Amino acid sequence: MFQKIKENIFYAGMNDCGRLFFDELIPLEKGTSYNSYIVIGSEKTAVIDTMYPKFTQEYLKSFDENGITKVDYIIANHGEQDHSGSIPALLEKFPNAIVVTNAVCAGNLKEMLLVPSEKIKIIKNDEELSLGNKTLQFKITPGVHWPDTMFTYIKEDNIISTCDFLGAHYTFDDVFAVPSKELEKSAKKYFAEIMMPFSSVCRKYIQLIKDLKVEMVLPSHGPIHKNPDYILDLYTDWAGEKGKNLVILPYVSMYNSTENMIDYLSNKLNEKGINTFKYDMVNGNLGDLAISLVDATTIIMGASMVLAGPHPAAFNTAYLASVLRPKAKVASFIGSYGWGGNLFGKLSELLAPLKLDIIEPIQVKGKAKSDDYIKLDNMAEEIYKKHKEFGLI
Ligand code: FEO
Repeated sequence: MFQKIKENIFYAGMNDCGRLFFDELIPLEKGTSYNSYIVIGSEKTAVIDTMYPKFTQEYLKSFDENGITKVDYIIANHGEQDHSGSIPALLEKFPNAIVVTNAVCAGNLKEMLLVPSEKIKIIKNDEELSLGNKTLQFKITPGVHWPDTMFTYIKEDNIISTCDFLGAHYTFDDVFAVPSKELEKSAKKYFAEIMMPFSSVCRKYIQLIKDLKVEMVLPSHGPIHKNPDYILDLYTDWAGEKGKNLVILPYVSMYNSTENMIDYLSNKLNEKGINTFKYDMVNGNLGDLAISLVDATTIIMGASMVLAGPHPAAFNTAYLASVLRPKAKVASFIGSYGWGGNLFGKLSELLAPLKLDIIEPIQVKGKAKSDDYIKLDNMAEEIYKKHKEFGLI
């Protein structure tokens, strides 16, 4: 059954409890939902965002089951197919409907889903569309997280649908959010993977929504926020420019030499009042790494040498950290080798776009010796001074 959100506004989305990964990258503990909304005005009916292609038939059937016999507008807030994928089928079911979206998204729908131009109405920022006694106003919001994204504001109800922005990969029985540690973790992991690269843009749109003083936020994944401040405050923290007093230590270790150094450094940092998060790059959950990247001020990578370069798992982490564009300011490397090679050159290149302040790396043959422990002590001290300088201690 569609779930009523407010008078003549309904949730028409679906849970995908069995989905284990999103983008084949971040593990999902609770699957995800693909949210679609139906707004029934006195004259026209609009559907805001549609459905992941795999569930198209079930989605179309739900219109019949809920007595929706007429759709005039299909609002596409975003062209990615987890929301736009069922547009062609919905247009077939409701041949008089037209798709309403911005120019960039229209281009995507034409190329990715072969939606014909004559079925698309292109709108501009702040343009309005009347449904009779309800008005939709479009806020073009490129960058959260594609160039084609926009929000749809239902004026009379003071509700905004934000598509991917403010979402979470989360499933539910009741569509309204119940704040919990579990929901916060899902939303943070989602933010890390999808929104963190665009944090400065996020800050702009957080303010836009705050200024509207909306009653509800309808995202396209995860529950609806009847208390918008809950998710807006979390996003304000996560998208902020200043990291926390946290050093993350992603490592891979073949004979425990690297791991021992990571443990030693972690303990030294803890003694100095700095929080640490050690992450096993081979056996760890990538979601936990992504979450830690939201808060970290310093990244110290530990890697064993494989042949003449760093273990491939370290490349994967360095690349991910680079593209997710966290707010970290400081980095370095620790590692152990058997017969030679360069552990850190390529990893530094991968992290270069982040413009991190690099502390002198520590590379040892086999196990750390007394000199190496002194170097680790010095590294801990240098990190401490930097965190102090940043006002984190
Ligand atoms: Fe949930 Fe960018 O799609």
